Amino acid sequence: MSSQIDHLLDETRRFPPAEEFAAAAVAQPEVYERAGADREAFWGEQARELLHWKKPFTRVLDWSTPPFAKWFDDGELNVSYNCLDRHVEAGNGDRVAILWEGEPGDSRRITYAELTDEVKRVANVLSGFGVGVGDRVAIYLPMIPEAVAAMLAVARLGAVHSVVFGGFSADSLRSRIDDAGAKVVITADGGYRKGRVSALKPAVDQALGDRGDGVQQTVEHVLVVKRGENDVDWVEGRDVWWHDIVPAASVDHEAQAFPAENPLFILYTSGTTGKPKGILHTSGGYLTQAAYTHRNVFDLKPETDVFWCTADIGWITGHTYVTYGPLANGATQVLYEGTPDAPHPGRWWEVIEKYGVTIFYTAPTAIRSFMKIGRSVPRKFDLSSIRLLGSVGEPINPEAWMWYREVIGGGDTPIVDTWWQTETGAIMVSPLPGITATKPGSAQVPLPGIAIDVVDETGEEVGNGNGGLLVITEPWPSMLRGIWGDPERYKETYWEKFDKQGFYFAGDGARLDEDGDLWLLGRVDDVMNVSGHRLSTAEIESSLVAHEATAEAAVVGASDETTGQAVVAFVIIKESYLSEHDAAGLATQLRQWVGEQIGAIARPRDVYIVGELPKTRSGKIMRRLLRDVAEGREVGDTTTLADTAVMSIISAQVK
Ligand code: WT7
Repeated sequence: MSSQIDHLLDETRRFPPAEEFAAAAVAQPEVYERAGADREAFWGEQARELLHWKKPFTRVLDWSTPPFAKWFDDGELNVSYNCLDRHVEAGNGDRVAILWEGEPGDSRRITYAELTDEVKRVANVLSGFGVGVGDRVAIYLPMIPEAVAAMLAVARLGAVHSVVFGGFSADSLRSRIDDAGAKVVITADGGYRKGRVSALKPAVDQALGDRGDGVQQTVEHVLVVKRGENDVDWVEGRDVWWHDIVPAASVDHEAQAFPAENPLFILYTSGTTGKPKGILHTSGGYLTQAAYTHRNVFDLKPETDVFWCTADIGWITGHTYVTYGPLANGATQVLYEGTPDAPHPGRWWEVIEKYGVTIFYTAPTAIRSFMKIGRSVPRKFDLSSIRLLGSVGEPINPEAWMWYREVIGGGDTPIVDTWWQTETGAIMVSPLPGITATKPGSAQVPLPGIAIDVVDETGEEVGNGNGGLLVITEPWPSMLRGIWGDPERYKETYWEKFDKQGFYFAGDGARLDEDGDLWLLGRVDDVMNVSGHRLSTAEIESSLVAHEATAEAAVVGASDETTGQAVVAFVIIKESYLSEHDAAGLATQLRQWVGEQIGAIARPRDVYIVGELPKTRSGKIMRRLLRDVAEGREVGDTTTLADTAVMSIISAQVK
């Protein structure tokens, strides 16, 4: 942390918005005053202006039973209608909603009218499967238009989707399906990644197979999109091809209105304990903040802009800034299926040139990997259409920020560094591009209507110039409404860190500089941030020890030039295995094992086979010391270790 603080002290660069940009910007300076004067009135206004309410709400916020909030709760709306039908009814049916680009180069342009029809058909299919209000549907799809249509079809019925990132393994999929009690799974044979079709359906089959663990299977139907040419196993009576049933379904489907607090989706995220948390979001408040932030932070002009958020729909960024925000605002957006470097390292820039992307939103990890390849690659493409850049997922270091602005933004493009979380549902802290003079590396200021602070362990404000813990001090419309099936864990995890009532603890360290601008300093617990995605050490450790060769394991996040943090594992191997296998072979096997069990994103960069782990007298693993080793540093204070010699042995073994 100290190096980041040093850096911030000498960060004096400021980039005020260009006059022309400021004059035409969606968000104008008085918005802060308006929101500051009456937060609830401000959000009420946004909800009414940006959304269509079948039954208008009369009350903005009910915070009578904190931390369980209700926003706009006597109002009724249909989320899918707000994202689709109303644009068609307003005469914008011919506007392109999705400019889809497949990895191999196939493409589709889908208008709002076409997407609306498709969603109506899918909704009819799902209701034919018996899906109704409150039922859960798991979605395990590649980045194809059907993924967006599936989410909106579920929402249209007042049902709840749980999107599982296609990179997750069968085991991860199974635990999420079981936890949510999903009735239907929507998947594909596979999707293109790095030039070949990466299979999805076999993982679904495996997840739904009988494992003899006595868990009652809840899935009745599997709807399968044919994307690749993969052969798939078929379970008669359960599995249905999308192309057999959706095109034949009726295109008439009237969206029914549901209460604003009707659950919209569950999305699983890592916590400090092994079990992923099902973060629950509801309808009216979520959609209000998704639409508001998408329009104001990205300065969206729906008639002329081409927006591109590179996130997968399996993450919250894909939910809010691929599906709900852009479509609620009637935007035209790019959806890209594959990896940034397939079939060539300039693929993303080629897509930007092809579609004339004007607003581009991606993650620091991607920016850093492009920096590594060098500016000659993006320079080959015409990126002059870009007028706004966004960053999300982890702190963006000032060097990457400057590179982004210069090489991708042509030297004069505003950057919005947006801080938020799966739990917050939408952007919370960010510059507003026509107002804020930006600072490389700082997420800067809470959005209008959002209240944050940096406090010490006791909940006291630290004040400008100091670091501490980031808290949100007032409820916000797109806040999580709980953890699926576990209200106690919801309270404990987020609301009981401080004695102060009503402080939401985000789990991030942060610092306020002398101007009061916010600098994010990373997670304060053992949760790692790999390529902008939160992974828990506990989850990877439990996967490692599930391997028959492993006796014990500890995982840490070590800083990594490209991915922000990388997973580094320290593993004790059972004696019987060590004598029969070489350490290098075991390390490779364990890396693969985690990849298969959880998914490639969790695969450790390094696996060190060690004889012991550093523990306190109460038996707690001291990850801080392992992090020192993983990052090649002098090992810190070892006085609280039960056996102080252990660290020198580990250091020697790692070398
Ligand atoms: C964690 C949330 C929000 C979508 C992607 C990740 C880190 C997120 C920033 C940023 C510094 C950031 C935080 C946060 N984070 N955005 N602009 N600057 N850190 O969603 O998986 O829920 O992770 O990502 O540590 O708590 P998530």
